[in-house]
Amino acid sequence: MKTVLDFQKKKVAGQKITMITCYDYTFAKIIGESQVDAILVGDSLAQIMHGHSTTLNASTALMALHTSAVVKGAAGKFVVADMPFLSTRKGLKSSMDQVEKLMKAGANAIKIEGADDHLELIRHIVNSGVPVMGHLGLTPQSIHQLGGPKIQGRAESAALKMMNDALNLEKAGCFSLVLECVPAKLAEDITGKLEIPTIGIGAGHNTDGQILVLQDLLGMNKEFRPKFLKKYLNGHDLITNALNAYVTETENVSFPAKEHEYE
Ligand code: KIV
Repeated sequence: MKTVLDFQKKKVAGQKITMITCYDYTFAKIIGESQVDAILVGDSLAQIMHGHSTTLNASTALMALHTSAVVKGAAGKFVVADMPFLSTRKGLKSSMDQVEKLMKAGANAIKIEGADDHLELIRHIVNSGVPVMGHLGLTPQSIHQLGGPKIQGRAESAALKMMNDALNLEKAGCFSLVLECVPAKLAEDITGKLEIPTIGIGAGHNTDGQILVLQDLLGMNKEFRPKFLKKYLNGHDLITNALNAYVTETENVSFPAKEHEYE
């Protein structure tokens, strides 16, 4: 299994790190057999698996349930689990209880959105032996505060703040940092200043690695077409065609065929 040390080594060697989100056992088994470096059980599962319009509905119990399914499927992959909405905002004891639930569900690390008011907590979590991944730029748990899914860090002051936050997260002990929907030049500058690896999504090609939501990469949602996304499969049409072929063959009684029947 890759560890936090391997991600650091990859950055030093100039090798790209690949991450993908996953929320379930079946896909985790496939990812487990792939070359992807690591998995994120993202709180995007509230949207992708449960149909909510934002990530705000993910709870620690839900994150732990999905984390445990993923860990069972993708034995051997480094698994990061998201600390969900407000789980870091109710005091140290409550935050540590949530961390404990995710780690006991089998995660190898946790991810926390944002830097404001989080540095002391991150230091405490890291000193407790739990690797922490940071997340800056578009932080979906603050979607209402940000006014929508917008590119972050375009204004000079916002770019300066993001650089400063990134350096503070590194100092607090984060082992890596997700940069989401950030201008490519700013992501490149932050990547150049940090010793820890940056993982980009909508942050250009000069981060130390990339992460995508699995269902986006597989083209499951026809309507979702943000500029940063490359669909590596037309999953929506492939699955629809398979379902319709099953209906047609059932209706014309070419399925089940002789080979599918028990004597
Ligand atoms: O929850 C998630 O899927 C994420 C990634 C988009 C980085 O945080």
